[in-house]
Formats: sequence, structure tokens, C-alpha cells
Amino acid sequence: MIDRVILIGFMCSGKSTVGRLLAERLGWDFLDFDATIEMEQGMDVHEIFARRGEAVFRALERDLTERIAPQRRVVLAPGGGWVTQPELLEELRPGSLTAWLKVGPRTVLERHRRQGGVRPLLRVGPLEEQVPALITAREPFYCRADYALDTESRQPAELAAELADWVAREGDS
Ligand code: S3P
Repeated sequence: MIDRVILIGFMCSGKSTVGRLLAERLGWDFLDFDATIEMEQGMDVHEIFARRGEAVFRALERDLTERIAPQRRVVLAPGGGWVTQPELLEELRPGSLTAWLKVGPRTVLERHRRQGGVRPLLRVGPLEEQVPALITAREPFYCRADYALDTESRQPAELAAELADWVAREGDS
């Protein structure tokens, strides 16, 4: 019985957009990790990175994961680096459908520019080198998902519809 969906993927892969649409379709809650951490800390993610460092942000992700673990009928959209603590995904895996929203470096760069460049890990160095390198480094973590979906050729609503079908199918099995 599947009663939770976890959307993983690189920055700008559309986790929050797809997650919100999927939660609406399923009639479940939606939880955006970055937004929750920002609200609880009273600080933007980039401010947390700048003032307190990445290790503190990762500890906040871990703490949030532990607190929300009992929640069911929920779609989760953790930040793109949440997967680098793979034990967190494993903790939530039972009863969850996990999906990797795939995105290539060129699209990340385009979307990041359009969104105004607010992501702390993409602020230093030439993005054209940094983004592909970080995507490659993260792939072994994203590969742990049950399903992979190409986000470049399809609209968020289509992706949400496909995920909702998977949830229904898994629920029947
Ligand atoms: C990060 C991704 C961001 C945010 C933080 C770190 C990462 O979330 O959690 O800037 O390490 O990939 P999005 O994937 O929602 O941009």
C-alpha cells in the first residue's frame, strides 16, 4: 500500500510544481522541505547556507525528515541535495513511491537564470561547469528512486497525472 510519494531530483527539476499538482490530484498533503525549513528558521535557504553553512542545513533536513516520517497521504518535495544522506530516503521508503524527476544541465541553467539565481550551491564558479559536475555526482543518489521521469519533454500536469496513475496501480497490487 502506497500512501506517500517522494519526489527527488536536481535543483530546477520541478519537484515543488509537480508535487503540488500531484497532491491536489490525490487529495493528499504536500510538503516542500525548503519552504518548511525557511518558515521554521525564519530565514531563506541561501541565508542559512551563508550564515550557518551547508552542514547545518543538512542537519535541518535530517531533523525535518525524522519529524515527518509518521505522516501518510503526503507528497514530499525535499531539496535537491537531500538524497546525499541516503539513509533518509531509506527511512521513508516503506510505503512510499519514490520518483526521480530528471533534468539535464542545459535546462537547469535556463530555469535557474529565469528564476533569478537564488540557489546557494549555484552561486560560486562558472555555472556551465558546476551544474553538469554536480548532476553527475548526484546521479548515483537519484538512481535509488523506483521510477525516473523525464521532465524536459513533458508538462508538470502530465507528470503529476502519470505519478497519480502509478500510485493507483501500486495501491491495487
Ligand atoms: C540544494 C537544493 C535546493 C536547496 C538548497 C540545496 C541542493 O533545493 O535545498 O539550495 O543541494 O541541491 P531545490 O532542489 O528545491 O532547488
